[in-house]
Amino acid sequence: MCNLTCKKASMLVCGGFIILMFTLYALFFNHGAPEDIMVANKGSQVNPKFKHYHDRDPHKMNELEKEVAEEERRAAQHWDEFIAKNDFVNIGEIYDNCDEKDRVMIGRTIMLPTVHWAGLKGVKSRTFINITLHEELTGGKFFLEVKYNGKDLFARNWELCTLDEDYDDRVVYCPFLAQDYSFVKDRDIPVYLPKGRYQTKGWITDVNDEIVACGFSDFTL
Ligand SMILES: *[C@@H]1O[C@H](CO)[C@@H](O)[C@H](O)[C@H]1NC(C)=O
Repeated sequence: MCNLTCKKASMLVCGGFIILMFTLYALFFNHGAPEDIMVANKGSQVNPKFKHYHDRDPHKMNELEKEVAEEERRAAQHWDEFIAKNDFVNIGEIYDNCDEKDRVMIGRTIMLPTVHWAGLKGVKSRTFINITLHEELTGGKFFLEVKYNGKDLFARNWELCTLDEDYDDRVVYCPFLAQDYSFVKDRDIPVYLPKGRYQTKGWITDVNDEIVACGFSDFTL
């Protein structure tokens, strides 16, 4: 059925396919083994990833600023203890506001190993948020900015209420009543992302464009 030319052609196709698979393989594993990524992102007390306003010189603050700084310090300490107690790999912080002079920590983002589809090993993020809403949140927007190796990679925004409607682990259902909430949300970090440093800033606004929550993450693949 298949003459010599046909056989050569099918070998070529097979060869091409194998090369393609190897390339894809190399691409998929571009950002290394999950264990190595976890170690690289562990961070330390000596060299913290995030700077805090309350770490500044109290002599340069007035009485009100000192009080705010003390509240911020206590909240950050609470979440630090949560991270330390569970030996988590800390990659992000969530606040009630984006302004570094006046924000209280309400959550953290950590990195965990995971297994993606087809058994590919990788990492994912898990975000913990404990927030008290003082007013009902009927809608708003979610903004996300991502920097890659210090350069702007992308900036987008979405309607808050439909943000995660397609996910099995949906947590956003509008409206949010004025009460306490405790969220835990996982996100896969795609295996195809190239090696490098990723810094993200994400924030949620209400219908009056007031910021309700603001998060920062910093991790290296
Ligand atoms: C967050 O809130 C939940 C539910 O109230 C609580 O069980 C958990 O300990 C809180 N986490 C932290 C770090 O405070």
